[in-house]
Amino acid sequence: MSSKEDIKKLLKRSGYSSTAIEYFLEKVNVGKIEDPDAYFVYTGPCGDTMEIFLTIVPGSKEIKDAKFQAIGCAGAFAAGSAITEMIKGKTVEQAEKIEEEDVIDWLGAIPNQKIHCVCLAKKTLKFALNEYKAG
Ligand code: FES
Repeated sequence: MSSKEDIKKLLKRSGYSSTAIEYFLEKVNVGKIEDPDAYFVYTGPCGDTMEIFLTIVPGSKEIKDAKFQAIGCAGAFAAGSAITEMIKGKTVEQAEKIEEEDVIDWLGAIPNQKIHCVCLAKKTLKFALNEYKAG
């Protein structure tokens, strides 16, 4: 069984930034929100699944809280943590404008083969926001 330090070294060598590694290991924003105002579960083409839960302030449409769960790789967890961190305090309209490149910039670096994991997070968020808007 590898220690946390071994995992960190391995991920670093694969091309993950320190932020991405920290998000993955610390499980930032991993969890559930009971009775969320917006929710979606989505399985991407790679077969991995993400769920996003949002608490949204009525009226201002500010995203007060965001959590996610995933059955997926380190890239999915890093992207899920990043996107949920990025949208807290933003409005639904602002969150909708977040693109894959913004998530990658926020993380600093992610292996090229893991860019589709960022798409999984972005699509799950987009679908959750669409559901919210559809009421
Ligand atoms: Fe599927 Fe990363 S390999 S989300």
